[in-house]
Amino acid sequence: MPWWRHNGRAMAKPRARSSAGFARATPGGRNRKGGGAPLRATPVITIDGPAGAGKSTVARELARRLGYRLIDTGALYRGIAWRVREAKADPGDEGALRRLLAGTTIDLRDGAVLVDGRDVTGEIRTPEIGELTSRLSMLAGVREKVTPIQRRLAAAGGAVLEGRDTGSVVCPDAEVKFYLDASPDVRVVRRQRELEARGLPAAPEEVRAEIGRRDRQDRERTLAPLVVPDGAVVIDSTGRSAEEVVRLMLEEVARHGCCTRS
Ligand code: DC
Repeated sequence: MPWWRHNGRAMAKPRARSSAGFARATPGGRNRKGGGAPLRATPVITIDGPAGAGKSTVARELARRLGYRLIDTGALYRGIAWRVREAKADPGDEGALRRLLAGTTIDLRDGAVLVDGRDVTGEIRTPEIGELTSRLSMLAGVREKVTPIQRRLAAAGGAVLEGRDTGSVVCPDAEVKFYLDASPDVRVVRRQRELEARGLPAAPEEVRAEIGRRDRQDRERTLAPLVVPDGAVVIDSTGRSAEEVVRLMLEEVARHGCCTRS
């Protein structure tokens, strides 16, 4: 079985878009052939997939090797959940949530999540915030707040976005898209290790249940559900180290004509 699949089926390896690689921005910032959308000087790479598939680790390393910015889109949703919890707002009252969010600024700066200017990075990785985030991310008012921020952060290119809808909704025009998956058992073990490393040990059954709930919410929601984006290269990280996955991704990126740093 080849390492890449598309929409779950093995298929011919996708061809690079052009032999010249990524379209280069012209001085006017427009497509050389005239008209069309502005082109980015450096590409956008998206990585989507379920919790525990290893997205964060490989996205961070891929961004580092390419010298790109990392845009952790889930961190922005977690920042929103942090704000909702802090305000003791009712997640079931969408009107109140919209009003709360209208007066909230949220940003990513040098890997830190800023909510109304306050760095909440260290407070958003708990299972409690994870579950509230998954619930809130189903709501139109929340996605309408966060998606434009993610697009603004990605607009200049030279970015790796990781999340659930980055290749399907946030940046459907991304030059390279990945969908990273892994077997349920491996995802449970990785998530458990991640929690342990944060000083939040949890039993495997608890972690399995948490992942199952989040999977259902992320895949079954009406708005921007977790899907394999059109044109994405699917990588199964079961039995592969992060380094192997990053290498596969770098090969794919290189096939699109992008330079790597190391
Ligand atoms: O990747 P993460 O575990 O930090 O994401 C937390 C939640 O945020 C996830 O359960 C669903 C939501 N999310 C989303 O809806 N869209 C994204 N692009 C990223 C995350």
